[in-house]
Amino acid sequence: MGNEKIMIIDDETDMLENCARILGRNGYVCITTDNPSEALGIASVEHPDLVLTDLKMPKKGGMEILRELKTLDPSIIVIVFTAFSSVQSAVEAMKEGAFDFISKPFSADHLLLTIERAFNQRRLEKDNENLRSQIEATYGFDNIIGNGPAITKVFEIIKKVAKTDANILIYGESGTGKELTARSIHANSNRRDKPFVPVDCVALSENLLESELFGHEKGSFTGAHAAKPGLFELADEGTFFLDEIGKMNVVTQAKLLRVIQERQFRRVGGSSILDVDFRVISTTNIDLNKAIEEGIFIEDLFWRLNVITIEIPPLRERREDIGLLTKEFIRKFAEKNNKDIKGISGEAMEILEGYHWPGNIRELQNVIERATSLTDTQYITPLDLQEHLHQGVDPENYIKNLPFKSAKRKWLESFEKKYFSDLLQESGGNISLAAKKAGIDRKTIYRIMKRHGMDGG
Ligand SMILES: Nc1ncnc2c1ncn2[C@@H]1O[C@H](COP(=O)(O)OP(=O)(O)OP(=O)(O)O)[C@@H](O)[C@H]1O
Ligand SMILES: [Mg+2]
Repeated sequence: MGNEKIMIIDDETDMLENCARILGRNGYVCITTDNPSEALGIASVEHPDLVLTDLKMPKKGGMEILRELKTLDPSIIVIVFTAFSSVQSAVEAMKEGAFDFISKPFSADHLLLTIERAFNQRRLEKDNENLRSQIEATYGFDNIIGNGPAITKVFEIIKKVAKTDANILIYGESGTGKELTARSIHANSNRRDKPFVPVDCVALSENLLESELFGHEKGSFTGAHAAKPGLFELADEGTFFLDEIGKMNVVTQAKLLRVIQERQFRRVGGSSILDVDFRVISTTNIDLNKAIEEGIFIEDLFWRLNVITIEIPPLRERREDIGLLTKEFIRKFAEKNNKDIKGISGEAMEILEGYHWPGNIRELQNVIERATSLTDTQYITPLDLQEHLHQGVDPENYIKNLPFKSAKRKWLESFEKKYFSDLLQESGGNISLAAKKAGIDRKTIYRIMKRHGMDGG
């Protein structure tokens, strides 16, 4: 690697020239000074990534420079030169935050290796930091949008339980954010650096893939050419996410129960017993108590999985969140589609707040994605929202606030729509009759119907 900036401080000019030559040859940018009193001033202008400084200098000691540099920029890497005899001062420097020391005299290789090691370590730390903040940005609680009382209650529960090892059962209708919640819990748990293993129980019960869960040993069945670890093993020390647990068939349920109870299992065709430690987060949108009564869900398994219950209310029961969700989704999709959309009109917002959202947040997200990609105005208006969302909201109210040209266009649009939907109703869906009444041909009627998403019936 190269292009990192290194500052060298030493009162011996030979040393400076020597180091600068070695480092320069290896692609580093070097700044040197033989006056330690100037060092801090230079550093504050040049912002070096790494500083090499002698410890013993007449005007100012290296320790003092080290302290000052660290105050200036805590992330700066400082490596000190020490005389061969003074290990003690090197130890002291490291206590003060020096990354390493190099005792004089040293070889070019030794110098280069020490510097490379410092940069590598810092790169690693940076990567980890990025990864962590990336995970937190995606699945931190911050990403579950909402600030109404219902979702705040959910936040409080997940904050409390994330760090525990308790198994969690999440109830909620389709699209309410069950998986998002499960991933947030994992990302905020002590298992965050271990795998999150999602299992779709619907797919699992369709073709019971025992070897998927348990893994198998080589030769345990025809076609098992190599040993393969199962999902249980993959989830070790991490989180096992069982999506739609209510759909798992009873045979698989019994097997899962045994693994959860014993924390041990064998691969298919295997003889050795493997230990596992995973936390289970499961979801359901059916009532498991009823499933137990019907004999299609094992009660013991229910108690094992349901140590903590989280209920995510449907969107229509927390309409107070619709505004915030809408704004966030507009921002997200406007950015994604590179469109300059500033927000949503009051009338359009009213429509969204009044709708019953059977598909919950997923549906709202889709509606906003569609609206942001279709709209040609800076604000999403009712016209960008599909017809089924409007429930009796009169478009004339917002049309009068538009500039004349668009107002005229929108007014004509809505007139055309009303004219033809009334016409079709009066003609009982008979297109020929409607065409005759309107004095236009059937093709035109079909085209208009298509434009407004009407069906003939
Ligand atoms: N509170 C929220 N804030 C932001 N986005 C959300 C929120 N809740 C859900 N979403 C988004 O809505 C979509 C559906 O969420 P998710 O997949 O977690 O729901 P689910 O309950 O698992 O749905 P299903 O039952 O259909 O599997 C995802 O794109 C998710 O990111
Ligand atoms: Mg889901």
